[in-house]
Amino acid sequence: MSQWSLIYENFDPAQEMRREALCTLGNGYFATRGAAPEADANGGHYPGTYLAGGYNRLVSQVAGREVENEDLVNMPNWLPLTFRIVGGEWFDLHRVDILAYRQELDLKQGVLLRSLRFKDGQGRVTRLASRCLVHMQQPHLAALETTLTAENWSGRIEIRSALDGRVVNDGVARYRGLGNRHLELLETRTLDAETLFLRVRTNQSRIEVVQAAATRLWDNDQPLSCERQTLVEPGFIGQLIALDIAEETPLSIEKIISLHSSKDRAMSECGREAQESIMRAGRFRDLLQSHVLAWGHLWGRFDMGIGMNGPEPGPPTVLVLRLHIFHLLQTVSLHIMDLDAGVPARGLHGEAYRGHVFWDELFIFPFLNLRVPEITRALLMYRYRRLDAARAAARKAGYDGAMYPWQSGSDGREETQRLHFNPKSGRWNPDKSYLQRHVNAAIAYNIWQYFQVTQDMEFLSFYGAIMMLEIARFWASIATYNEELERYEILGVMGPDEYHDAYPDSERPGLDNSAYTNLMAVWVLCRALEVLELLPQERRQELSETLALRPEELARWGDVSRRMRVVFHGDGIISQFERYDRLQEFDWEGYRKKYGDIQRLDRVLDAEGDTPNRYQVSKQADVLMLFYLFSSEELSALFKRLDYPFGYDTIPKNIDYYLKRTSHGSTLSRVTHSWVLARSDREVSWRLFAEALMSDVEDIQDGTTPEGIHLGAMASTVDMMQRAYTGVEAREGVLWLNPQLPKTIDSLCMHIHYRNKSLTITVSGDVLKVEVAGVSSEAIKIGFKNDIYELRHGQTKEFTL
Ligand code: BGC
Repeated sequence: MSQWSLIYENFDPAQEMRREALCTLGNGYFATRGAAPEADANGGHYPGTYLAGGYNRLVSQVAGREVENEDLVNMPNWLPLTFRIVGGEWFDLHRVDILAYRQELDLKQGVLLRSLRFKDGQGRVTRLASRCLVHMQQPHLAALETTLTAENWSGRIEIRSALDGRVVNDGVARYRGLGNRHLELLETRTLDAETLFLRVRTNQSRIEVVQAAATRLWDNDQPLSCERQTLVEPGFIGQLIALDIAEETPLSIEKIISLHSSKDRAMSECGREAQESIMRAGRFRDLLQSHVLAWGHLWGRFDMGIGMNGPEPGPPTVLVLRLHIFHLLQTVSLHIMDLDAGVPARGLHGEAYRGHVFWDELFIFPFLNLRVPEITRALLMYRYRRLDAARAAARKAGYDGAMYPWQSGSDGREETQRLHFNPKSGRWNPDKSYLQRHVNAAIAYNIWQYFQVTQDMEFLSFYGAIMMLEIARFWASIATYNEELERYEILGVMGPDEYHDAYPDSERPGLDNSAYTNLMAVWVLCRALEVLELLPQERRQELSETLALRPEELARWGDVSRRMRVVFHGDGIISQFERYDRLQEFDWEGYRKKYGDIQRLDRVLDAEGDTPNRYQVSKQADVLMLFYLFSSEELSALFKRLDYPFGYDTIPKNIDYYLKRTSHGSTLSRVTHSWVLARSDREVSWRLFAEALMSDVEDIQDGTTPEGIHLGAMASTVDMMQRAYTGVEAREGVLWLNPQLPKTIDSLCMHIHYRNKSLTITVSGDVLKVEVAGVSSEAIKIGFKNDIYELRHGQTKEFTL
């Protein structure tokens, strides 16, 4: 199998929706699922087009209550292009005899190809080849080229090309009881004989979206004249194009589209812009050339060289990792630098989680930081712009500082739904996951990591520091003092493990002293104090005045960060939360036997009238997240500060304990476990990594991929290569390297960016090679084993492992 192409050699209707998600094309500004251009949204297909930040709110009635949800809106479908032989049926793959079929997502060029041969009821054989792209250099353009060849017939055909604004949000079965009509249909017209124009507006957020589509027919370089008729229905505009085709004479149909919105910059009015960009667009082949060039540049920055040790049983690791990088860059490409966009957990690839932004950034930014940190900066600005909303949320909940929402969308308010549908039981249950306050620590952690890698003091001074200080303030205010224990506590929250949202039989939502939350809060408080020290005196003064930071407040931060409570049980086990050890052990064997797949134990237990709250079961890594985010040196320092023991065996003991109790109901879980085991148990680690790698390609959660890819899992599997196996760690001004490849990998080579320098890192056999390039003459510090080396532009250093 190719290492650059995802290939499907057959038409499998049951797999179409998954393939559509996996073959999505996008450029960070918008993305379109890889649906067949002739397909409508019906049971087996779901064409969807999503605009970064294109949200809308609707109120629905659920279980007798009014609920308001914000969704990433399915924008008009620009794909429709189909044909029929006059007098026959419109082309439908389900109704012809398929003689050959091939679908290929070419990752290197960013093109989706389809080629098929089929026979209709009258024995007429036709070949169809199509190429589709969403332009990576010109974010407002996309193009589809279809070539039709009549093998054993000639005659008159009709082509139908359209823009369809009648679409609704219907991609996730669980949400079907909710409102889904987000678009008002404003305008349909033709711009010239070949060009259609459609304007819609989201009905609450009032984002106007305009598409223009030019459909032209070619016989090589000759434009073909044909009869055209316009089709107009509310929200829909199409063209019927009729012409004669001759046996074995290929007919090429090019559909070029432009998409603009009222949220764009550098424009007068989006309709005008859509019109101008379609007029300037040129032919498919010109667009293809510049598009491939843009992808070439991206791959130059983001690809990595991986030498595998022998043949692999399933899809090649390198191919899947490239697929992951591809989808990451289609969601957060260089174009988002100019947008106010966050990272939707499921990409711009489907409607699951309504396009909301979660803590998944924590798994995504590290890869970007070391490649094109400007992208991370732009995504951190998404958070910065929502600082006031986070402050308002904190105040409303009775806290100081800024409390960012668990799920974020357009304006930064809490978007977590209040009721959650369990398709297994058919019940709507209260959703308390908004209590995952740890998202605030993730934001602070991301700012700090970005700064460690880039040393971008401007960002830290003007944006990063203020967020970190306000988040620290929040943590200091949510912490309450337990006089008896002489410790601070955080009560009534949820950790990353979403199976636990309350104590069994308790009316009170949330849990007390989540170890992950408390330790992250301590870390944030420490870093916030450090940030104040780092800032230039003038800026520190300004910020202290603006935020009215008083010495007593800073003293309290210091105190909370020294006396936060962490609960332990058994022999050095860090309790996921207080009284975790009093929960029942779970019958894993029995449930596996009864249900087979128990990744989503929460749904299984709820359908039985039970709840995971009663058991020692985790959906995903929770305590173990600490070992994922921090080196043992950092953790040991944190525990020491708190005056708790942290032995050499704390990490392995806890991994062993929690790994046994985790169902991996989130795709973020396996990769975290794989990471924390990467050095101690390379075999289990690789097995978990290999499973994580298949999250979407094989849809291991059985049905979630069609609703959108899992961007966190995609990015973190790539980051396993980048950081876990090379041991790359940016800490205290030193880039530490400590490679250890899994047995399955023979060599690894990558280009990363660190503090204005480009580094080529190669690990092969027992040699680690570091080559440095870059413009500034300043040296960077590389740490290996216990020594620190200074390397400048043009220098290479080899280390023996
Ligand atoms: C996970 C969360 C994650 C969310 C979005 C959930 O299933 O439990 O940790 O943030 O999906 O990816």
